[in-house]
Amino acid sequence: MKKLTAAVLAAMLALSMTACGGSKEAAPEASADATAPATEYTLVADGVLTMATNAEFPPYEYREGDAIVGIDVEIAQNIANKLGLELQIEDMAFDSVIPAVTTGKADIGVSGFTVTEERKHSVDFTDTYVQASQLIIIHKDDAETIKSAADLTGKSIGVQLGTTGDIYAGDIEGATVERYSKGFEAVQALSQKKINAVMIDDQVAKALASQSEDVVVIDEPFTVEDYAIVVNKENPALTAAVNEVIAEMKANGELQAIIDKYISAE
Ligand code: ARG
Repeated sequence: MKKLTAAVLAAMLALSMTACGGSKEAAPEASADATAPATEYTLVADGVLTMATNAEFPPYEYREGDAIVGIDVEIAQNIANKLGLELQIEDMAFDSVIPAVTTGKADIGVSGFTVTEERKHSVDFTDTYVQASQLIIIHKDDAETIKSAADLTGKSIGVQLGTTGDIYAGDIEGATVERYSKGFEAVQALSQKKINAVMIDDQVAKALASQSEDVVVIDEPFTVEDYAIVVNKENPALTAAVNEVIAEMKANGELQAIIDKYISAE
């Protein structure tokens, strides 16, 4: 009985450590009793790390021919490698990614997810891996009249459905929010002057705007946001394992190398 009590205590300790998000390490392996279930993560499929994403978000995740590539994909591949798992990518609508994780169809959501209090009600976030912001894209013909978010009163702003841009564009007084399933479609509508602006994540704004000669980015951050990976609340051991890899990738420069491969410093 004594042994069992120790194991239960170890499990509870591990749980409380991961629950407060302060621990970058899995429960101590040194303890002889640490066959505690809380240290073992569960997976949708044995030996496979299933990642849900929305590959409409260059340079974080996008399609190149048949392949899905980008910063998030390389980070996830690195995590899978270090955990000895095969990476499986499921591409879906952005607003389906969190449901895929909560209903057990995917182990992790890696999709340029901004950490928000609202999302924390349904999922756990790992430690953050990049900082981002929302930027505004406008038609080049409006460059003289729209110089900042303050000039968007009474204008229409395109966003990708379910994103933080979708939420924050609504904060601009008197503006109407037009929701698109892909950020690219919003930029297309802007270049056709169907809407007055697009609000989207900074690097994505730059990537999408570089594909159209008709639009320009206003280089004034509207928010400050942190990206993290989304994990099922019932799988704290997976969050802990992913956090260990993220910490390692930050320390040894691998994370920065991946970012630098896709984003050139200005
Ligand atoms: N950072 C924003 C958010 O969390 C946008 C993410 C969109 N990601 C994507 N792969 N489409 O809402």
